[in-house]
Amino acid sequence: LIIVLDFGGQYNQLIARRVREVNVYAEVLSYETPIEEIIARNPKGIIFTGGPSVVFEENAPLIDKAIFDAGIPILGICYGSQLMGYLLGGSVARADSREYGKTDLTVDKSDPLFEGVDVSSVAWMSHTYYVSSPPSDFRITASTDTCPVAGMSNESKKLYAVQFHPEVNHTPEGTKMLKNFLVNICGCSQDWIMSDFAKDQIKLLKEKIGDKKVLCALSGGVDSSVAAMLIHKAVGKQLTCIFVDHGLLRKDEGDDVEKVFGEEFDMNLIRVNCEKQFLNKLAGVSDPETKRKIIGEEFIRVFEAEAKKIGVVDFLVQGTIYPDVIESGTKDAAVIKSHHNVGGLPEHVDFKEIIEPLRDLFKDEVRNVGRAVGIPEFLVSRQPFPGPGLAIRVIGDITKEKLDILREADYIFREEVKAAGISKGLGQYFAVLTNLKSVGVMGDERTYDYTVALRSVDTSDFMTADWSRIPHEILAKVSNRIVNEVNHVNRICYDITSKPPATIEWE
Ligand code: XMP
Repeated sequence: LIIVLDFGGQYNQLIARRVREVNVYAEVLSYETPIEEIIARNPKGIIFTGGPSVVFEENAPLIDKAIFDAGIPILGICYGSQLMGYLLGGSVARADSREYGKTDLTVDKSDPLFEGVDVSSVAWMSHTYYVSSPPSDFRITASTDTCPVAGMSNESKKLYAVQFHPEVNHTPEGTKMLKNFLVNICGCSQDWIMSDFAKDQIKLLKEKIGDKKVLCALSGGVDSSVAAMLIHKAVGKQLTCIFVDHGLLRKDEGDDVEKVFGEEFDMNLIRVNCEKQFLNKLAGVSDPETKRKIIGEEFIRVFEAEAKKIGVVDFLVQGTIYPDVIESGTKDAAVIKSHHNVGGLPEHVDFKEIIEPLRDLFKDEVRNVGRAVGIPEFLVSRQPFPGPGLAIRVIGDITKEKLDILREADYIFREEVKAAGISKGLGQYFAVLTNLKSVGVMGDERTYDYTVALRSVDTSDFMTADWSRIPHEILAKVSNRIVNEVNHVNRICYDITSKPPATIEWE
């Protein structure tokens, strides 16, 4: 175990993730965790994260100096480096100017942290303060033009520190440095795998839940599926999953979910078919935000009604993952679209506590947990699908007929992408039923039918995206098949806008 001690920086979970990537288990704990507790966990090493504070200012997060004498190797990053320097008798000062971005770095390769690392490389810096002189029993191990102590260490005490961020991609040698710390300095054996996480979580969940009842809103998406599966493995039928099928899912999706979770895994699954109810509420509505609002509210109403039948439950499971935690933390961000997570938290359901077993993991890690607990690949590698479903991919007002047209077109697109073997490289791809009808000719007949837009984007964070350069032959095939196989479609467009200025979805 490596403990990542959180001092409020923005890359804390990323550090933990980097550690897990080299097959060493890492957990993030608050800097306020009592040091007896930290030591009792018996970590092989500790990493102090960055943070926005200044070590010598009032209310700066500090730590008991005794931690440095516990014989546990410590790596301080950014604020963590300044904290180490300051507490052990070095000095910390304000730099002449804020150092931000890629910086040329020179390291001393004789330091165990930099073994095998290029003497000159690039490192990502983001700081205003720095260690101006290290504690007397430390030596300087790295520097940049403007940062005299970019790295320092006391080898005999196994204390190491860097001002830059080895955990970000912009520090190309960073992974090597972290690996040096974990393997050479802490002696970690790199034998941890995701299935260990699953095993440990299942055990912890079993202990926590005991013989109590748990409720889960299962959407069939990756996150809620994996969360539900962990609980199911822990407490079996004490878990009830409610699957609200609002009739806005992709082709076969509802049946797939029922088959996998209800039949194959024999979960306590309640599928509520309420297509009509949703379509009635949505009839004649064409404003995207109103659609989202209606769906979100209706979802909660259905979920509540079902939950009431079950009675009081002790726990409610949420498939929250780490990026959700950060996003909801950005209070000042403008609302571009109100991302209404169907599967979000109902306000009036009777439960005592929320369980979020995935809240520290990134999406690809969640997928790996899913694989470890045996969820079929087609569900685990599913692309993200918005809570309001196809309702925001039928532009304008929604009817069952339009939804069915879209479902067929979308299915063909997905089928061809899969057949061409290019799905792994695409972030998200789907069809949109535009609200546009145009003239066409089929056989000898004039047609007046819908235009389907195909959308595919390359993205890793879904905040920005570029349109995918899908080979023309594949697009040609998709276009041909859709106009031939789907009634009421006579024209296909491919969306070639990036985000920004467009968004990924059309509504
Ligand atoms: P946009 O369209 O904002 O989409 O570029 C970014 C990502 O978010 C998904 N999305 C949603 N997810 N509820 C959701 O759960 C929503 O209302 C919603 N709107 C967009 C979208 O599919 C993409 O992955």
